[in-house]
Amino acid sequence: MLLISGPIIRISPHEIHIDDADFYDKLNSFQGKWNKDPYTAHQFANPGSSVGTIAHDLHRKRRAAVLPFFSKQKIYALEPVIQSTIDRLCNKVQEYVKSGQPLNLRNAYKCFAADVVAEYCFAESGGLLEKPDFSLVHWQEHQQGLKAGLRARYLPSWYMPVVQGAPAWIRATVDPAAKHFEIWHRDVDGSVRRMEEQKNEDFFEKAGHRTIFHELVNSPHLPPAEKQTIRVIQEAGAMVGAGGESTSQVLTALTFCLIANPEKLRKLRDELRTIIPSADSPPPSLRQLERLPYLGGCIKEGLR
Ligand code: HEM
Repeated sequence: MLLISGPIIRISPHEIHIDDADFYDKLNSFQGKWNKDPYTAHQFANPGSSVGTIAHDLHRKRRAAVLPFFSKQKIYALEPVIQSTIDRLCNKVQEYVKSGQPLNLRNAYKCFAADVVAEYCFAESGGLLEKPDFSLVHWQEHQQGLKAGLRARYLPSWYMPVVQGAPAWIRATVDPAAKHFEIWHRDVDGSVRRMEEQKNEDFFEKAGHRTIFHELVNSPHLPPAEKQTIRVIQEAGAMVGAGGESTSQVLTALTFCLIANPEKLRKLRDELRTIIPSADSPPPSLRQLERLPYLGGCIKEGLR
């Protein structure tokens, strides 16, 4: 077909397929204005979040409000939070090792990542790591939501908002899985409302670190419309969902590949021993870890 019609063919009303590697940089450029595809942007029924924002300029504004929190310096400042959550994860793994029970690492990593992100967002770790079975039921509900989103990508963009806005009994009949988006938003609802009440600087002293949503709801740079509770809840739900899901997927794939390739695992362990010589050694800093080339390569492979 490509031979007949050339390197660009339309594969759906909103999608084209481009068979020309030279066009890659032009297409994936930060220059110019690019609205999001409405089919993709509407899939999670959260038009108030950055991920669900179609219009280029509004997306820029929303993204700019959270972007400073993801600079390298900000992540270094978050190291104590990440380290204490790693310690909690290791304790839980030890419990499974001692009991001889099989461990679902995917869910363990999800709890780990979601707890870190929730702490960064609201200074409230969800405590998911301590839940029985690594919050299995919670993740099953999330998975249903992701499936509903995947399906909604192929339906007209009005579908999700209409289903979400319908009374519960209609929703349960038309699309039972779609109700799981409410769970994402319910998870963060209380945290966002508490952020709105805590407007003083003491908050950061108590938390011990900056938090994304405390600053967002108190930002002097954002207009009131951008700080409305419903929008902030959607942004927060997307942040915790995206942060937990993507990070745990990468960690799970990486762990699997290392276990399946003992030679590579051995090489990684040898490199790690240069900065963690024994089990009693203090945990390495992020800066130390960043200097390990083999570890860096493994992480890139996991991301790939
Ligand atoms: C290994 C970890 C991660 C991977 C592989 C990953 C991957 C991605 C990708 C491919 C996108 C789409 C980018 C785009 O359309 O421009 C995305 C968007 C997003 N990610 Fe991640 N992500 C990861 C971790 C995180 C974390 C830890 C957070 C939050 C703390 C996060 C929050 C988001 C948000 C909010 C968006 C939507 C951005 C927007 O549309 O403006 N992600 N991520």
